[in-house]
Amino acid sequence: MKTYLVTGGFGFIGSNFIRHIMDNRKDVAIINVDKITYAANPGNLAGYSENYKFYKADIADKTGLSKIFLENKVDYVVNFAAESHVDRSIQEPSIFIRTNVEGTLNLLELSMKHNVEKFLQISTDEVYGSLGESGKFSEETPLSPRSPYSASKASADMLVTAFFHTYNMPVLISRCSNNYGPYQFPEKLIPLVAINALNDKEIPLYGDGKNVRDWIYVSDHVKGICLVLEKGKFGEVYNIGGNAEAENIDIIKYILNKLKKPHSLIKYVKDRPGHDRRYAMDFSKINKETGFIPEYNLEKGLDDTIDWYIKNESWWREILSGDYKEYYKKMYENR
Ligand code: NAD
Ligand code: DAU
Repeated sequence: MKTYLVTGGFGFIGSNFIRHIMDNRKDVAIINVDKITYAANPGNLAGYSENYKFYKADIADKTGLSKIFLENKVDYVVNFAAESHVDRSIQEPSIFIRTNVEGTLNLLELSMKHNVEKFLQISTDEVYGSLGESGKFSEETPLSPRSPYSASKASADMLVTAFFHTYNMPVLISRCSNNYGPYQFPEKLIPLVAINALNDKEIPLYGDGKNVRDWIYVSDHVKGICLVLEKGKFGEVYNIGGNAEAENIDIIKYILNKLKKPHSLIKYVKDRPGHDRRYAMDFSKINKETGFIPEYNLEKGLDDTIDWYIKNESWWREILSGDYKEYYKKMYENR
């Protein structure tokens, strides 16, 4: 039996990862450490108790975190906990440094002190910066983050790598492209579009709408993470991608068509400052070393996601009725 300490397990990807492990692995126990920020939803993991434990804790609080390591024998650490939204990082960078950088450093130090067997940092393609019309990010692409969010994630990655070289720590880094699927917080593009369309509300489209993202269905990302944990080599970085590049305008039109809503709902708004133009992932390394291949194509992933948001209206209605209302007003009113 291995014990995984998973941070940020009540968020979008963390909860999909824990559900996958709980449903498929009887030889793994999970300790979920989450601060429960605005992005967390404990209901995402309702019903799990066997081989599952939760601690409400902030990874930036080393004293609190230390108690968890003292009370439990941790074998693997998987660090999902982060402030994850680029637009929020533009408005308030400091919390991104605290959680994403200082929090990661605390986890590294405690993992080293308690002889953790594997430490996996969940990172992002955004650390590589922005692409032009052609080319893809490989693991050799120099880091060139352009938003406070991506700068904080790149800083964390560099700390992780430093712990490998300096202390010979057993670390791994996975860098994934844009995820979508069940339980994604409505601030992100795909759930925002689906929910606004279901409510016949305007869809804010930044700039000229032609920015490109490489979309991956969340269960494919989770499979990639499991493969990196199982087969990854210490000190290495693994890119994970969906092989599904699309312009934002095309994603939005697809969702509107599927929901039979008019394209007139689209409203072009002021661009995101420093908006990265294009992301695309070369994931041949993880493919060669572990056999990883994304199963979902974009149409199937979007169809399943839209169906999930239709069927789980009470999940997102509860979010919309809380602090999110204020966030939405601040971000989009007069934009
Ligand atoms: P999310 O915002 O949905 O969830 C983040 C979770 O972390 C929440 O449950 C939150 O409460 C928790 N958290 C935040 N600060 C914390 C702290 N100080 N201490 C403990 N817990 C804290 O994020 P997500 O989209 O699920 O992303 C998870 C990870 O994957 C992040 O590290 C992100 O950078 C990375 N990532 C995300 C994507 C994507 O497309 N969403 C793509 C690649 C990588
Ligand atoms: O690439 C991986 C990253 O993907 C992750 O590291 C981040 O945690 C995650 O938030 C995501 O970042 P993006 O900035 O790419 O995702 P977002 O959903 O915020 O935006 C996707 C694209 O849609 C981007 O080009 C901006 C645009 N957009 C977004 C919103 C919220 C709009 O046009 N309108 C919107 O209202």
